[in-house]
Amino acid sequence: MKDLLRTADLSRGDVELLLNTAAHFAKNPLSSKDALANRTVGIYMTKPSTRTRLASETAVAHLGGTPIFLRGDDLQIGRGETIADTARVISQFCSALLIRTFAQSDVDELGAHASIPVINGLTDVDHPTQLLADWATIREVFGSDVTGRKFTYIGDGNNMAHAWLTMGAILGVHVVASTPLGKWAPAQEAIATARKIAEKTGAIVEVDHDPESAAKGSSVLYTDVWMSMGDPESERTEKLKALTPYQVNKHLMGLAENDAIFMHCLPAHRGEEVSADVIDGDRSYIWREAFHRRTTIQSILYHLVRGDLEGAAMSGDKGHF
Ligand code: CP
Ligand code: NVA
Repeated sequence: MKDLLRTADLSRGDVELLLNTAAHFAKNPLSSKDALANRTVGIYMTKPSTRTRLASETAVAHLGGTPIFLRGDDLQIGRGETIADTARVISQFCSALLIRTFAQSDVDELGAHASIPVINGLTDVDHPTQLLADWATIREVFGSDVTGRKFTYIGDGNNMAHAWLTMGAILGVHVVASTPLGKWAPAQEAIATARKIAEKTGAIVEVDHDPESAAKGSSVLYTDVWMSMGDPESERTEKLKALTPYQVNKHLMGLAENDAIFMHCLPAHRGEEVSADVIDGDRSYIWREAFHRRTTIQSILYHLVRGDLEGAAMSGDKGHF
């Protein structure tokens, strides 16, 4: 496996390896401080970022390399240079490239034309690096045997909802996405991918539209912003109204398991997708989750550059999304 373009690219074995190494990097951040010595890693973003950028630059530094941050309009792509040519040029200089942008097809195209590993740092439809940080956190709290537990995302059926279902499917666990019906439900292709993976792993993949029944008995309640980067402002009023019943608050947390935790990829909007008492309360693991963005991106870089990942296609459990 050369690239991490989508969550569904990862096999179960890859996820286990990445999480184990991330746990190691949590305790020993500098244990592979020469892995990228004298090398550079490009970080190209056409959308804003706080965590992914800080985590990636720190991860590269901890591996002994130098990050090169490129903002969208820094590159000649904005003046018509093709993605393929850009990929070939970046490959002359960097040992890996993390990209955050809008269209998944742009990330796929970069991966196809770059000779170096390309990592998806968020697109409109997926956020694979976030999910590794989420599961690094979940495993610290609940351990690796999560039989009988339910992991529930509540809110917009966006990139995070897609990645949540797919990663749960890869790990063979019970995952739920509870979203409004229609326009703000997860994409059908994403659900189909997660279900296809689940057929092989034994995961339970549920898409639900009733936040109360979804929250009931859950070990994790996870949410994300209601307006994602790139969402049309013209839809704000209609969208926020549709999502109002999906706010994660004390009432929903009260329906979850007694030991349930709250998670959020951040940035958060208190009073919209989550109430302040929940996100700032003692069941909230958001800061540990943010911390693990570095440990997991460090792990991804370390293993992708070494060529250690087999990929879902090789192990036969790849979805098609
Ligand atoms: N969770 C996350 O991806 O945060 P940023 O948008 O700040 O990178
Ligand atoms: N769904 C959000 C996630 C931010 C990390 C967005 O795409 O803006």
